[in-house]
Amino acid sequence: MSRIVYVNGDYIPEEEATVSIFDRGFLMADGVYEVTSVLGGKLIDFDGHAKRLERSLAELDMPSPCTMDELLEIHRQLVEKNGIDEGLVYLQVTRGSDGDRDFVFPDPATTKPTLVLFTQNKPGLADSPAAKKGAKVISVPDIRWHRRDIKTVQLLYPSMAKMMAKKAGCDDAWLVEDGFVTEGSSNNAYIVKGNKIITRELSNDILHGITRAAVLKLAAEAQMEVEERNFTIAEAQEADEAFTTSASAFVMPVVEIDGATLGDGTPGKIALRLREIYLDEMRKAAV
Ligand code: PDD
Repeated sequence: MSRIVYVNGDYIPEEEATVSIFDRGFLMADGVYEVTSVLGGKLIDFDGHAKRLERSLAELDMPSPCTMDELLEIHRQLVEKNGIDEGLVYLQVTRGSDGDRDFVFPDPATTKPTLVLFTQNKPGLADSPAAKKGAKVISVPDIRWHRRDIKTVQLLYPSMAKMMAKKAGCDDAWLVEDGFVTEGSSNNAYIVKGNKIITRELSNDILHGITRAAVLKLAAEAQMEVEERNFTIAEAQEADEAFTTSASAFVMPVVEIDGATLGDGTPGKIALRLREIYLDEMRKAAV
C-alpha cells in the first residue's frame, strides 16, 4: 500500500512526491535528518529529536523550515494518515534548490529549505527477534568527516561499513579511530565490565544520540554505574557485555566483536534490563 508522505507543506501519495534535481541534498549531501520511533502510535522522545535537529541546522547555518510545534503536528499527521502503530518517522531538511549547481550556499532569503518526512511501518519493532539473539559486529576504520555531532545525510561510509559487516557474516560495524571505538555505523556503542557501563564521552567525534541520553539517565536512576571514556576493541572483546543504542533499535545487545564471543554468546543481563527500562519509560512519556 502506498504511503502518504510530506513534502514542503503537502501530504501526498509517495508516487506523487518530487524534489528538484538541483536540490542541494541530492547534489551536495547538504542536508540533515532525524529518525524518531513510534510505539503504540505515539512518538518516542520527540523533544530530544527536535532539539538536536535545531542544533544541526544552526551548526550548518541552514534555515529552519518551520517551528518545532509545526514539526510535531506533521509527525502526528503522518503517523495517523499511515496508521502506524510501531515504526519510524524519517525527517530530512536540505538547503533546497536555487535551480543550479554551485558550491556557494544560495541566499536563504530567496531559497527555501526542502522539508521531507515519511513513515516506515515496522510491526514488532519493540519485540524484536534480533534483540533476543544479539548482534555480531566487526570493527572498521572510522574515516568519516570530523563533525559527526551534526546529523547530516552523508551516510555513504556508514552504508559501506554496514556492507563490510554483512560480507563478514555480521550484523553491524563499530568504527575505530586512533585505536578507540567511536560509535557504531548508525548507533552509539557501549561495553559493560562488572556492573559498570562504559561509553565514549560526547564530542564532535560521535553523534550525540537521543537514545544514549535517555539510557544513561535511566541507568543512573536505576543505580547503575556509568563511565564516559574511550575504550578499545581489545577491551570490548574482554568485556562482560556490549550493546548499542539508537532510535531505530533502542538498546541492542552485542554478542560478538571481531570474532570474539562475549560471555556465553547470548545478550547480557544489563543490556536486556536497560532495553526493558527504556521501552517502559519511553512508552509512558511518548507524545
Ligand atoms: N542513526 N550514531 C550514529 C552514527 C547514528 O547514525 C545514530 C542514529 C546514532 C544514535 O542516535 P539516536 O539514539 O539519536 O538515534 C548514533 C539513525 C537511527 C539512522 O541513521 O537511522
